[in-house]
Amino acid sequence: MEENRERPIGIFDSGVGGLTVVKQILKELPNENIVYFGDTARVPYGTKSKETITHFAMQDVRFLLSFNVKIIVVACNSVSSNSIDILKRKFSLPVIGVIDAGAEAACSYTRNRRIGVIGTDATVESNAYQMKIEGKCSAKNIFARSCPLFVPLAEEGFTEGKIPGMIAEKYLTEIRKKQIDTLILGCTHYPLLATTIQNVMGEDVTLVDPGVEVAKRVKKYLTENELYNDSSYRGNSKFYLSDIPRHFEKVAENFLGGPIPSPVKVTIEDY
Ligand code: DGL
Repeated sequence: MEENRERPIGIFDSGVGGLTVVKQILKELPNENIVYFGDTARVPYGTKSKETITHFAMQDVRFLLSFNVKIIVVACNSVSSNSIDILKRKFSLPVIGVIDAGAEAACSYTRNRRIGVIGTDATVESNAYQMKIEGKCSAKNIFARSCPLFVPLAEEGFTEGKIPGMIAEKYLTEIRKKQIDTLILGCTHYPLLATTIQNVMGEDVTLVDPGVEVAKRVKKYLTENELYNDSSYRGNSKFYLSDIPRHFEKVAENFLGGPIPSPVKVTIEDY
């Protein structure tokens, strides 16, 4: 029987974007074993209804449970903002999403309590970040908008230069005018565009990457619950996808920041 501490961390996302979260978790918790599932056959989730996102997310979690994972990390902002409560109710193991972690960090960084949130339509329209921020630091000035073109730009690796800059300018001008001092990058893909977003927003705006924040939370949770893997060996990561997209290696490397072991294809509809 596997020791509790050695059981893997299960992480899932709608596709490759969640690899930005895996990158942060590997940095924070290098000894942990990881199983990642990316629903590359059904991505994007960010344009879909709450019901569909929840249905997909339940299958994603059930798949990860087959690895006896000790915790589930919902890397996807669209799932975290629409379905986290249902997932927490339906499954008995700990489920940690990115919204709480991102909202709490934004509250701790802001000085003027004017906070921006960018994400997919599903995330922005759910109001999840907005409600969490209000609850945590009673900031009333929260400005949110979706930036759909950032997702394909990140996947194409087309993240800096004139055209990404113009798109970012178009999406972010209104929010910049609101004089926010903190901006949550509420989508797994947006950290890849951080330089372009920072250029548009200006140096005085702090960008919050919920992936960085959730990695710290996972570490805290595992430590406090005696689930932290204190082995002296590097953990082992396995990657599963519902489709192996063309040019997957190249795209995944950009998101993970390094080479990725060969992914295994799964039929997620079976779960
Ligand atoms: N991973 C999704 C998110 O963080 C972005 C891509 C999608 O729309 O599925 O919301």
